[in-house]
Amino acid sequence: MGVGALSFSKANWPRRLRSQDWFEKGDKHTYIHRSWAKNQGLPDDALDGRPIIGICNTWSEFTPCNGHLRDIAERVKRGVYEAGGVPFEFPVFSTGESMLRPTAMLFRNLVSMDVEEAIRGNPMDGVVLLAGCDKTTPALLMGAASVDIPTIMVTGGPMLNGKFRGEDLASGSDVWRFSEMVRSGEMSLDDFIETEQGHARSPGHCNTMGTASSMASMAETLGMTLSGNAAIPAVDARRRVMAQITGRRIVDMVKDDLKPSHILTRRAFENAIKTNAAIGGSTNAVIHLLALAGRIGVELTLDDWDKVGNGVPTIVNLRPSGKYLMEEFFYAGGLPVVLKQLADIGHLYSDAITVSGRSIGEDISTARNWNDDVILSPARALTQNGGIAVLKGNLAPGGVIIKPSAATPALMQHRGRAVTFETIEDYRNRIDDEALDVDENCILVLKNCGPKGYPGMAEVGNMGLPPKILRKGVTDMVRISDARMSGTAYGTVLLHASPEAAMLGPLAIVRDDDMIEVDVANRRIHLDVSDAEVEERLRRHVPQPPQAASGYAKALY
Ligand code: FES
Repeated sequence: MGVGALSFSKANWPRRLRSQDWFEKGDKHTYIHRSWAKNQGLPDDALDGRPIIGICNTWSEFTPCNGHLRDIAERVKRGVYEAGGVPFEFPVFSTGESMLRPTAMLFRNLVSMDVEEAIRGNPMDGVVLLAGCDKTTPALLMGAASVDIPTIMVTGGPMLNGKFRGEDLASGSDVWRFSEMVRSGEMSLDDFIETEQGHARSPGHCNTMGTASSMASMAETLGMTLSGNAAIPAVDARRRVMAQITGRRIVDMVKDDLKPSHILTRRAFENAIKTNAAIGGSTNAVIHLLALAGRIGVELTLDDWDKVGNGVPTIVNLRPSGKYLMEEFFYAGGLPVVLKQLADIGHLYSDAITVSGRSIGEDISTARNWNDDVILSPARALTQNGGIAVLKGNLAPGGVIIKPSAATPALMQHRGRAVTFETIEDYRNRIDDEALDVDENCILVLKNCGPKGYPGMAEVGNMGLPPKILRKGVTDMVRISDARMSGTAYGTVLLHASPEAAMLGPLAIVRDDDMIEVDVANRRIHLDVSDAEVEERLRRHVPQPPQAASGYAKALY
């Protein structure tokens, strides 16, 4: 052994590594791979059979929620080196929810393809996924699942609680609330703008149980992160510790050849659906988990969301469904406590395997609840049935979903007169018009905001209420669309109507003054128009022209 050489021995490894196809000495090709890699200052023996660990980074200053992930990557690298591996960090397209237009969702699949090909085409034996903002988490899991080499995720963690004049501010949820207060005249525009200073006051993703926190919780429940990862605040020192031990762990996963296909089983997905109900998680999890299941070859349908999540109580008292924020969730014990409580009431497959190499039941065995007002007992649940409900009927033959924990119970069975908007621009142009023929019993219907219609299925389904209704003190109405809504949003909002209007779903032909019936308990949504009339309207309907003239979106048409 030369001076300063590593003590690593290939003899310790049970199998030939994938990266050796690139780096084993011997010919012109491996010469090229090795010599170019060394321009980054790697000693010769770093490429002699040590596991190469890719660190897939969605860091970007245009994705503020992931703006600290280069620091997290450095902590992962420490762990990889400690365990005998060699880290290579690489960038992928980063989809920030707060700035990217027309909507980050348009690019989730593009990111997943970027991730998949970057992993497949490069000499790595295992990969650590660094994500945070909404779409980055599912996109990275999807891409990695398609390649199926040892994979582990560490998320960036939530921001600290926002603060304004002594009150906590909730990411997103308070933006929706304050903007409605401005529209109703309860808050001045100056005060609204002043809240901006305290809204996002630390690195990290949204501090509510929005989509980012939900997807971090889904990744943990699925077994793709180490236990306890989801809730650690971005700026808490324990986030860095989590990153470092994740770096250590991926090297052992390579040694054990523990791959996503061993972890992402049907049971793991059922655990995730139940957990999403328990945490009052985002409706976006429906779309992302179905896509991930497809990547790994697990049969999972929209109906499974209703069936599997049915009867699971919402026990996490976090906004938008409840009261607190992710900081309090972490201090209360975080997701392991929720999983343990679910296991205690028979709503968790405790034998599902995680990246730890152990069962999820073993991972959570020592979890303790330190604040039972943040993580409630099932007897004190926010709702006893927190699972996503899937309604079907002539208005949405393929289904429309609703998150019961964020809805108004009295509106979950409702018959109302439709007030329709053909596009989101149409809605924005008319919703503040005092002459709009609408009252609080009406149902707002928004069309052409689905995957093709928008394009990209924007988070606009939680349409703000007309000011004249807000001034009456009414804060919720039934709303229906083919759009999504932010995980931070709330209300009696029916989403993802399928088929979407742009694909000639019946939503396209709803007219003002049609009567609509919503019956969540019986999973029914009905347009009170005869079948013959629906067919005739569809026959005469002229769809909106495609919205994208160039770029990736054009490929959707
Ligand atoms: Fe990034 Fe909410 S905007 S997580």
